Amino acid sequence: HGKPIETDVLIIGAGPAGASLACFLASYGVKGILVSRDSTSAETPRAHITNMATFECFRDIGLEDILRNISTPIDETDHLLRWCLSMAGRELARRYTLQSTPQRTGEYKIASPCEHMDLPQTRLEPELVRYATLNGFQVRWDTEFRTMEQGDSRVTVDLFDKVTQQIFSVSAKYVFGADGAGSRVMRHLQVPMEGFPATQWAVNVFLKADLSHLMKSRPAVLSWVFQPHRDHADFNMVCIVRRVKQWDEWVFSFLPTPGAREEILSKEQYLEEIQQVIGDGTPVDITHMSRWRINEAYAAHFSVGRVFCLGDAVHRHPPAMGLGSNTSVQDSYNLAWKVAYVLQNKASPRLLDSYSLERQPVAKHMVTHTNEALRRHVPIFNILGIISPSVAERLEALSLLSANTETAEQLRTEFQGAADACAETELNGLGIEFNQDYSDSPAICADTSDSAPGKPALEENPDPLRFHTRTTIPGWRLPHVWLNKAIPENEISTIDLAGKGKFALFTGIGGGVWKEAASKLSAELNVSIRTISIGYGQEYEDLYGDWARIRGVESSGAVLVRPDNFVAWRHGKAEGDEKWATEKLSLVMRKVLALD
Ligand code: FDA
Repeated sequence: HGKPIETDVLIIGAGPAGASLACFLASYGVKGILVSRDSTSAETPRAHITNMATFECFRDIGLEDILRNISTPIDETDHLLRWCLSMAGRELARRYTLQSTPQRTGEYKIASPCEHMDLPQTRLEPELVRYATLNGFQVRWDTEFRTMEQGDSRVTVDLFDKVTQQIFSVSAKYVFGADGAGSRVMRHLQVPMEGFPATQWAVNVFLKADLSHLMKSRPAVLSWVFQPHRDHADFNMVCIVRRVKQWDEWVFSFLPTPGAREEILSKEQYLEEIQQVIGDGTPVDITHMSRWRINEAYAAHFSVGRVFCLGDAVHRHPPAMGLGSNTSVQDSYNLAWKVAYVLQNKASPRLLDSYSLERQPVAKHMVTHTNEALRRHVPIFNILGIISPSVAERLEALSLLSANTETAEQLRTEFQGAADACAETELNGLGIEFNQDYSDSPAICADTSDSAPGKPALEENPDPLRFHTRTTIPGWRLPHVWLNKAIPENEISTIDLAGKGKFALFTGIGGGVWKEAASKLSAELNVSIRTISIGYGQEYEDLYGDWARIRGVESSGAVLVRPDNFVAWRHGKAEGDEKWATEKLSLVMRKVLALD
């Protein structure tokens, strides 16, 4: 045992949640220790889609370009979602996804200065760990969390070193449980998980097979393969084929018939099945197999005392909508500025309470809807008779798709409708990716304008899962708008003017009092508040008129943004002098930083 090693922060788990937390904390100059039970970062690709909201977090600390360079862009040449009878065989339906959906490309462009990218965990995690190590974190692999004890000012954690086979202790001011879906930290804290028990499971088979000859005309990122004509094993009710790399690395996810025995079969059995799923004799090399459960669970709360949990430790759900790794990174982005501000005495430790209050509802919503997105496939199973054990019945259902009868016509409409419903959310959930609402949090101050709306942010949104609501209502993500300089210079996003560890106050013509107030309070609270004035003759100009359309306040008003790019508060217009503005802003800053 010996004397505990002292550190400010200890992060348990080096997946997307833990490793990104180390990066974001390191960007504030916080130093600490990051440990992982495994000997290396993710050895299988797992999550792929890194969405724009997540890229905005990485952009904030200068990691976007590095990660873009190791990602595959998403465009119409490789991003179909489809339903088929084998990879080489007949297709039943195709849908576009993400920004490759022609009707929606513009919406994705408008939403963010970043883009969705295909970035498997095998490539993401080493970059995160590298950034963290180069910026103040010590990383130890083969180091397993065993137990912990919380005192008034520190937490003492026992870790098992798998190399020396010894236990050693770390004493940290704050501890973070980012130890994934089987979280021992969560078990230790005895935080209840809510939701529903997992009933379904699946087996992922990772493999190499060159399918480029098939993908030329069918560039599918995700294929749901049904084989109604085969009397196939019950471990393959449907096989979801996910491209890892164009076009020779794949994950074949086998979903069994409900009630099938839960087991991983032999490599030979999967090989035989995979050959059928591909359908043209292409050689296959299986590299890895793993079983996973389709979870629908979220923690009742995310923190106990000085211990904060994030990532799969607190939300467990299927990969539909591609939100697993993204939500984990966004948890850590939410947490990092708060922890850094508290450690640097810029905020009261009570600010940390807002982490669970803000992120737990996001997790609950996400877990519910990713499961819902998966359930949207059930009507397709029913229409195609997939669940029936009889080949004859399944073939009859399939043949109806091409029959010349009224019933068949109705079935075709239902089938296409069911495919639409799947595609709408599965990989077109721009809304769920962006529309996070922290307005009930103590670290948000309600709009104090005379004409402040209640909480109408989503009122005009016909489908908040699909469509992004761009608003500066406090508690919502700062919308991206391109701004210009009076001199010839590249456009700059509002997103880039905020963040970087500082508060940002957006104002415009007539809002000079906010500038003076922000500068006074920055000095008084030792917290940087950057002011950005937008309008003709101001520091930044709004040549497209988008900021004026979206800012929700008058030109002299104020939109205050937290370091994590969420709007903290807004006020309609300047209604007094510098003293008035300082008093107003002071109340807000003290509330947000829990100093009141
Ligand atoms: P993650 O599980 O990634 O990391 C946990 C970390 O904690 C690891 O470093 C581990 O070593 C460490 N750890 C665990 N116990 C420990 C202990 N006792 N002591 C010390 N360290 C400990 N998602 C998605 O969106 N799309 C997808 O296609 C897939 N596919 C997929 C396939 C497979 C096989 C898996 C397992 C998962 C997925 N996922 C996925 C889910 C996605 O991978 C997941 O949401 C993120 O990895 C979550 O990141 P975390 O950092 O929270 O946990």
